Amino acid sequence: MAKQFKRTLITAALPYANGPVHVGHLAGVYVPADIYARYLRLKGEEVLMIGGSDEHGVPITLRARKEGVTPQDIVDRYHYIIKKSFEDFGVSFDIYSRTTSKTHYETASEFFRILNDKGAFVEKTNEQYYDTEANQFLADRYITGTCPHCGNERAYGDQCEACGTSLSPTELINPKSTISGSIPVMRETKHWYLPLDQYDPFLREWILENHKEWKANVYGQCKSWLDMGLQPRAVSRDLDWGIPVPVEGAEGKVLYVWFDAPIGYISNTKELRPNDWETWWKDPETKMIHFIGKDNIVFHCIVFPAMLKADGTYNLPENVPANEFLNLEGDKISTSRNWAVWLHEYLEDLPGKQDVLRYVLTANAPETKDNDFTWKDFQARNNNELVAILGNFVNRAMVLTEKYFDGKVPPVTEFTDYDRRTIDEFACVKAEVERLLGTFHFRDAQKEAMNLARIGNKYLADTEPWKQAKTDMPRVSTIMNIALQITANLSIAFEPFLPFSMEKLNKMLNVEPLAWDRLGATDLLPEGHVLGKPELLFEKIEDSVIEAQVQKLLNTKKANEAANYQAKPIAETIQFDDFAKLDIRVGTVLECIKVPKADKLLQFRIDDGLQKRTIVSGIAHYYQPEELIGKQICFIANLAPRKLKGIVSEGMILSAEDADGKLAVVMPEKAVKPGSEVK
Ligand code: 2FM
Ligand code: ZN
Repeated sequence: MAKQFKRTLITAALPYANGPVHVGHLAGVYVPADIYARYLRLKGEEVLMIGGSDEHGVPITLRARKEGVTPQDIVDRYHYIIKKSFEDFGVSFDIYSRTTSKTHYETASEFFRILNDKGAFVEKTNEQYYDTEANQFLADRYITGTCPHCGNERAYGDQCEACGTSLSPTELINPKSTISGSIPVMRETKHWYLPLDQYDPFLREWILENHKEWKANVYGQCKSWLDMGLQPRAVSRDLDWGIPVPVEGAEGKVLYVWFDAPIGYISNTKELRPNDWETWWKDPETKMIHFIGKDNIVFHCIVFPAMLKADGTYNLPENVPANEFLNLEGDKISTSRNWAVWLHEYLEDLPGKQDVLRYVLTANAPETKDNDFTWKDFQARNNNELVAILGNFVNRAMVLTEKYFDGKVPPVTEFTDYDRRTIDEFACVKAEVERLLGTFHFRDAQKEAMNLARIGNKYLADTEPWKQAKTDMPRVSTIMNIALQITANLSIAFEPFLPFSMEKLNKMLNVEPLAWDRLGATDLLPEGHVLGKPELLFEKIEDSVIEAQVQKLLNTKKANEAANYQAKPIAETIQFDDFAKLDIRVGTVLECIKVPKADKLLQFRIDDGLQKRTIVSGIAHYYQPEELIGKQICFIANLAPRKLKGIVSEGMILSAEDADGKLAVVMPEKAVKPGSEVK
């Protein structure tokens, strides 16, 4: 028998306030958390959904440094942008606060103090990189150097983004401080550690034995962390941005961001419910669910539970339905590379289309593996599913009722067997959607809701009320009654997924939001009930809209390529004699043609001042032959002849090649005599 709970505390990962939120955030965490919260509320359950911005940590200090502003400026800017995006997309937080709030400082400090007083931490001194010019210890992200695995010269102290390997700063070759550019030195520093290894037996039993029902990706990741063996984790850092370690002798040290951030869930509950927050955190009849992305699993399933356990008065999460990642058009979403669909920009470009994005992100949710968001798929799901199935059915039900019954719900005269089968079919949807939502299978749950609209479309197509209307109005009356009951059922089933559209639908049906328990009923709209005006729920998205979005991403790609351009390292040193062996001359191009069946090659006839010679060069992608006729080029005149595609090439034309392989022919800056030497 599953455990019964009285109330549910839903938390959604606190996003870093170092940039706006994007589709990946929405798909991975906030839409599923919101669907779950709305569903439970519709069922009449007691629910709190807690959110907020994560305003500490190195990503924020890095951004501040880059922009030459304070970390507080950064978090003030992004906290409000993020908060507004969530509101705009209907993410129904009961509170969205921030980890720079006074309540949070107090709560996190108190949490640390209690654990410290209990002797839950181990204090250790070790050596870390220190920047003697900036007079500060360096967080991993503040150190760059060469990756020992792939040779990337811009690897960070915690990770090489070129090969994806996790690193520790001491593994970097030629480490450099990103603050002053100086070479850091090792210096001793003291920190507080949570001895996670001591929690191993508890975690094994709690997760591996008692929570076998957790999603396979979550359970699997926990098991692999546990099997690798847990190590003590530092919960303090040498930084000047964060919550000061609240004990004596800790000057210049702050709580590690991953220590204070999850406590933010507690602080924000406290801020919202100062009088009964403990009921939500400590009463065993409260069920806690953490919605997060996969990179947060270890913190929510291992570190935070160990912290809660160390305190001993808190509940542990009942489930942590973490999602995998959403990619964008085949590439990893990245704030720093601006490779994202930002929520605030989406709404500027596609105003009013919140539900379309919510729908697409759920239909394509990265529940069991990484998934890809593409604009083509976005368009297809809107046009072929929201418009063609859901919108189309609702519209037909509304418009036909207006036409035949003046916009009033007509009575049932007599059910046929087919009507009864249809009614039985849609009555089953409730149990299935409940089972799926209760087990965090949001994409299948939404699919099931869409099946209800499919049932409706099929029913109208099979019963053809527009034909019956010529001969049998009592039959049409029954058909339209059933179609309208299905419509009202849709407004319940889709509320958690498409809240904006269902609000609109309820207005069209002229009803207050219907309770979840009524899902499956055939008497949601009484006979004679007056409907509102039919309106379109969704509209087709044209190709031009999608093309504009794709173009926007292509522009980002181009801008990134330009920004990331890195010249090749300089080759090995040579002596003057080596250089002097090359006879480089200027020649005038007399003829230039494409080499047949060789798409890269151009064939030149050159006046070299003494005679005419043929040279073949691989620059056909960058020049039309006629552009080069009459131009002066530089070429190596004493290179041994080589055959290219059957043509003997007597020399080599010099071109500049950038790191992307683009070529530009080298030409003298003013006209010179053919045969002039290049030195
Ligand atoms: O990964 C992140 O974006 C973190 N800011 C999530 C923190 S979740 C919680 F612990 F607050
Ligand atoms: Zn690497």
